[in-house]
Amino acid sequence: MNAKKPLCLPSPANEPNCGPGVPPWPGGPQTAWEAPGGRAQNLPRRAGAEREGSSTQRESLPRSRSRDERPKPFVVAIDGPAASGKGTLARRLAERFGFAHLDTGALYRATALLVLDAGGDPGDPAAAEGAARRVGPDHLADPRLRADEVAAAASLVAAVPEVRRALLAFQRNFAAHPPPPGRGAVLDGRDIGTVICPTADVKLFVTASTETRASRRLKELREQGLAVIYQDVLQDLTQRDARDRARHAAPLAPAPDAEIIDTTTLDADIVFERAAHLVARTLKEKEWQQ
Ligand code: CDP
Repeated sequence: MNAKKPLCLPSPANEPNCGPGVPPWPGGPQTAWEAPGGRAQNLPRRAGAEREGSSTQRESLPRSRSRDERPKPFVVAIDGPAASGKGTLARRLAERFGFAHLDTGALYRATALLVLDAGGDPGDPAAAEGAARRVGPDHLADPRLRADEVAAAASLVAAVPEVRRALLAFQRNFAAHPPPPGRGAVLDGRDIGTVICPTADVKLFVTASTETRASRRLKELREQGLAVIYQDVLQDLTQRDARDRARHAAPLAPAPDAEIIDTTTLDADIVFERAAHLVARTLKEKEWQQ
């Protein structure tokens, strides 16, 4: 199932914060991610779209000088294993700084769901690649994406190099042209700091012990009204992590320059404040360089 050849992706060299330039967002009304303020957002416009939209709670950002000299979007890459708290952290950072947020796991989950809905096998590379090519922003809001079967199937399709390649431009495009006000993006996933945005301004790798993560996921699932038991959640999570770490294509691993945050004994507020401090400091440094 896993191709043995290395995943060959376009080089990110010479590109602002993320990979090579990709076409701007296609047109059409689609909702898929959180725009600043926490609302679902229509498709982003080009980076040239208007950039105001501040909140009193938001940190100040480098000011643009002219339409052609706007600062590049500020990119925060957050990676980590399942249920490590990276999604919550990503949402909160996006809210604090007025950045757009993309949960890249939803792309793999949507790919898996398309395969499952068609009665296909998520382990079949051709079916997975075909589905990945069809995934668009409007697939990302389906509440069924959160199901555990879909998560397990997502980690199967995610190991297929062609799937990762098909989803690459979507993610890089989001980082290079975040939805309005377009000044920054937070992407969370498994390979954001290593493959998708290797030159991100801030890279975080959020982790926690397997047992802590399983307990958190159990709580989350029970809050959704699901009758789940700890041992099953622990087993699913362990299997998925092992697959994500062992796969040949963009395995789960911290980027060498990522800040590692172990949240086993830290509560979400402390993690958030620590990460927000790092982002604020880096934003300031970036401002001085302009
Ligand atoms: O929410 P949770 O951390 O449990 O999972 P997720 O982020 O929604 O990701 C679901 C699955 O998609 C993961 O187990 C990975 O196999 C895959 N994934 C990936 O390979 N690369 C990403 N950037 C994001 C997710």
